[in-house]
Amino acid sequence: MRQRLAFALGYLRNPRHVGAIAPASRALAQAILDEVLRSDARVLIEVGAGTGGITNALMLAKDRHDRFVVFERDPGFARLLNARFPELEVLNRCASLVDQLPLDALAPVTVVSSLPLLSMPKLEVQKCVTAMLSLLAHRPGSRLIQYTYAAPHLRPFANIPYGWRWRRVTSIWANLPPATVWSLEQTPRGTSIVH
Ligand SMILES: C[S@@+](CC[C@H](N)C(=O)[O-])C[C@H]1O[C@@H](n2cnc3c(N)ncnc32)[C@H](O)[C@@H]1O
Repeated sequence: MRQRLAFALGYLRNPRHVGAIAPASRALAQAILDEVLRSDARVLIEVGAGTGGITNALMLAKDRHDRFVVFERDPGFARLLNARFPELEVLNRCASLVDQLPLDALAPVTVVSSLPLLSMPKLEVQKCVTAMLSLLAHRPGSRLIQYTYAAPHLRPFANIPYGWRWRRVTSIWANLPPATVWSLEQTPRGTSIVH
């Protein structure tokens, strides 16, 4: 209840950056956790964690990772996340800085993004997408898991690097609004690339 109220207030403060009127549902958080568990990456990064609807599910995967870092640009949400998950590294920073995070070279990462790419200012979307792609590009085995509120056939963004593809994971109709989960991952050798 506290999270729902905090989320609604966050939405009123900044509707374009929050992008939804309710935090992620349990069904959406579970679908994302299931996807995270498919990977062996040792670093988990969540960008745009809001009030922690997905973070809470990802805590079940924390022990499988050496590091779990959260980026959240809204100071109120970042404070709430710090209080709710004191054992987490919560950074009150824009996701466009995600590629500046000091990490072992080549260490595969899983990035989970709740960034509302459809409603955020275009320039900010461009900077965040560039930073996420530059983080993943030189780290074989890395993935970006992104959910969107767009029609289920619409990929989160175009112009992905050569050798990568979007895979549609699932649509969660019971979420408010309904959401589709996508995974950006390297194309298996010999498979054609779908942009
Ligand atoms: C759809 S909400 C996330 C909801 C979250 N999954 C939950 O259950 O509470 C999007 C979040 O992205 C954050 N955000 C938007 N732009 C951002 C940026 N450039 N960097 C980091 N966080 C950002 C917003 O502040 C908001 O908390």
